Amino acid sequence: MPANPSPLTAPTAEDIRAWYRVQSAALAHDRPGEPVPSQAAVRAGLTTTGPRRRRLVLWLLRGSGDEPVATALLRLHGATAAGGHADIQMTVHPAHRRLGTGSRLLATVTEAATAAGCGTLTAEAVAGTPGEGFLATRDFVPFARMTWQRLPLDDIPAPVGKLPDVPHPGYRLTGWEGAAPETLADGFLDALRALPAPAAGPDAADTRWDPAAVHETAELAARRGDRLLTVAALHDDDGIAGYTTVLLPGDGTRRAQQYDTAVVPAHRGNGLGLWMKAEMLRRLPAAQPDLAEIHTRVPDDNRHLLAVNTALGFRPLHRTVRFRLRLRVRR
Ligand SMILES: CC(C)(COP(=O)(O)OP(=O)(O)OC[C@H]1O[C@@H](n2cnc3c(N)ncnc32)[C@H](O)[C@@H]1OP(=O)(O)O)[C@@H](O)C(=O)NCCC(=O)NCCS
Repeated sequence: MPANPSPLTAPTAEDIRAWYRVQSAALAHDRPGEPVPSQAAVRAGLTTTGPRRRRLVLWLLRGSGDEPVATALLRLHGATAAGGHADIQMTVHPAHRRLGTGSRLLATVTEAATAAGCGTLTAEAVAGTPGEGFLATRDFVPFARMTWQRLPLDDIPAPVGKLPDVPHPGYRLTGWEGAAPETLADGFLDALRALPAPAAGPDAADTRWDPAAVHETAELAARRGDRLLTVAALHDDDGIAGYTTVLLPGDGTRRAQQYDTAVVPAHRGNGLGLWMKAEMLRRLPAAQPDLAEIHTRVPDDNRHLLAVNTALGFRPLHRTVRFRLRLRVRR
């Protein structure tokens, strides 16, 4: 590997294929038995970026025979008082590990994040894999643990199908695809602003509720050809009391991703989380008739959401640990 590899400025079709080879080999090695995303999904993730707030910087390392060895993706988020925030995803091909590539790539990526004015860097590794030991021994500090879950639609317990019909006095369910409809948009933003930051830590910027980020999620999904479905609970006097979103992939994959689920604090304790998510599950077959399953990840400290998902039939797939590294801020 060169001492200081250059970022990939405009990935070619061959670069994307090489990137995909590293990712699919690593996934098969680190999380055997789990579905590998399609090459189209990987390409969309690398080439479609948000217009305003996030910027991607990519590195693709090749060996002496031009074989792909490692990839790194640095996602730069908007500047904050703490000096901005970035997230990294680094992968070394299983056949090339423990040779120092990961360490040198990390130095390059950290340098790039520091030069971009970032104050913190976050990364996620599957619990119990070398990535966890790698980050822990390189000054990264764990700040959140997550459980990834899966629900095959055929395994949804029968009673779940009836849950959306259980009356919740004062509330009704609604739903939309893409950005929130005009009539609800303001209320949706108010609901988002009323949500407290999750208990992941004071500068876990990537997990803080942020109306702009939620808006960008809808925008990005549309640009990638994915579909973002939202189900919301409306209160008679108080507008949007909570919402849940699911992403249907545009590449024909039969696996949906459950995104955010949140209930405004004043409306918690009324069973809205389970109600909204059960309604979402009911709507999914009509939205994508060949859909087979839905995946999600839940912070381990969110006992309520874990309980809701268990009631809906979700079962654990694997666990991950999120780490944070504080960087020297350059002024
Ligand atoms: C983590 C990863 C990037 C390391 O790449 P690498 O090229 O092997 O890294 P290096 O050779 O520089 O360092 C290897 C380090 O990983 C850790 N490591 C490797 N194998 C390990 C194992 N079986 N158990 C515990 N730690 C292990 C150690 O800290 C090791 O350092 P050492 O060799 O000095 O003991 C690579 O294993 C990988 O791609 N994992 C999957 C993706 C991931 O978890 N990325 C990290 C989060 S972004």
